[in-house]
Amino acid sequence: MSRIDGIRALEVLDSRGSPTLEVEVSLANGSTGRAMVPSGASVGSNEALELRDGNSDRFFGKGVLDAICHVHNEIQSALVCESSFNQSELDSTLQEIDGTQNKTKLGANATLGVSLAFARAEAQSTKVPLYEHIASLNRTDDMRLPVPMMNVLNGGAHANNRIDLQEFMIVPTGMNDFSSAIRCGAEVFHCLKNALSADGHSTAVGDEGGFAPDLDSDESALAYLADAIERAGYKLGSDVHLALDCAATEFHSDGDYFLQGQSKSYTSRQYCDYLAELVVQFPIVSIEDGLAEEDWNAWRQLTARLGSRVQLVGDDIFVTNPKFLQKGIELKVANSILIKVNQIGTLTETLEVIQLAKSFGYNTVISHRSGDTEDTFIADLAVGTGAGQIKSGSLCRSERTSKYNRLIRIEADASHLDYRGLREII
Ligand code: PGA
Ligand code: ZN
Repeated sequence: MSRIDGIRALEVLDSRGSPTLEVEVSLANGSTGRAMVPSGASVGSNEALELRDGNSDRFFGKGVLDAICHVHNEIQSALVCESSFNQSELDSTLQEIDGTQNKTKLGANATLGVSLAFARAEAQSTKVPLYEHIASLNRTDDMRLPVPMMNVLNGGAHANNRIDLQEFMIVPTGMNDFSSAIRCGAEVFHCLKNALSADGHSTAVGDEGGFAPDLDSDESALAYLADAIERAGYKLGSDVHLALDCAATEFHSDGDYFLQGQSKSYTSRQYCDYLAELVVQFPIVSIEDGLAEEDWNAWRQLTARLGSRVQLVGDDIFVTNPKFLQKGIELKVANSILIKVNQIGTLTETLEVIQLAKSFGYNTVISHRSGDTEDTFIADLAVGTGAGQIKSGSLCRSERTSKYNRLIRIEADASHLDYRGLREII
């Protein structure tokens, strides 16, 4: 329980050069905490609202001064007072003063900044690392280091190329500890760079730090990854597996999936067949958003077909929201959930959805956003909730590596923490 002395919000920049909030919470006992808010590009339609000013005179309408005003007015008045709060009371107060389903009044960027900054301030005042503080909020001692899913090749909304699928990831499932997993990722990343370059492809990177070559098919992207893993001296399918985020909502319209790279349209059923073939061709252990957010029926079929062999992760379809996850559990849709703190807008609600997922045997993957910052909160969130997996993009761009580096530091400081590799996934 802490009494809050002051809250300050600033308009700072994210990794795409767009404005976002940084919030600092000061407690009456002198502790402070600061947090920055991430921002997505392939945004699920049921995500909590990211409030933007819409004033085209500033940042092309993307300013966040309105959200900052909400922090300095309604939120300050409710929280800076004689009462003390714990995290769940603070987050319920934010929900109450917002009063909407999707944080459309205050903006989830305003509520999230305050919620995360408060958690950091309380961790400082109790003199424990943030991940331990999160574990205590979550009432769990199931802390462990996550398996990283590293997005080394970017397509879709994150890159300017013909590749339709958004993320091609490597997963070092056979490593014994987190830092070896990162070393493996970095070695594969450099081998991939050399191979692309030798074939005359661009090695410029996309929003999440993966290469964004103008390849003509998804299979060719997967073949480059497979080759880079072998070149780096690792065994494909045992040391390292592959994972995809199709972000299929982005290319789904009028009931069909249109793949621009192939100039070909697929029905839901044909698209499921296509994914099933990819899984036969390549050692893919995880597919995120293989289907669109509104295609619940096809999601059920895909889960019935591949769910016992492949991790099927719901991002746009669940939007870190217990209501949609509950529906997915009832309908047997997916077997894993992607967790993005700004899709829901407070830490307490994030912890609740993680607990719900775990209680029904769904895997949890903590995720960054394609527009992110140097903030490393999600690294601690992954450890403190024992989530098992994290995706924070590629092995370059500091807003991506900052999370991995924080986890390397946590591993060095807390040698008792477990790293489970492939057992985490299937
Ligand atoms: P986004 O991408 O942050 O642009 O939504 C990440 C993802 O889809 O997982
Ligand atoms: Zn996704």
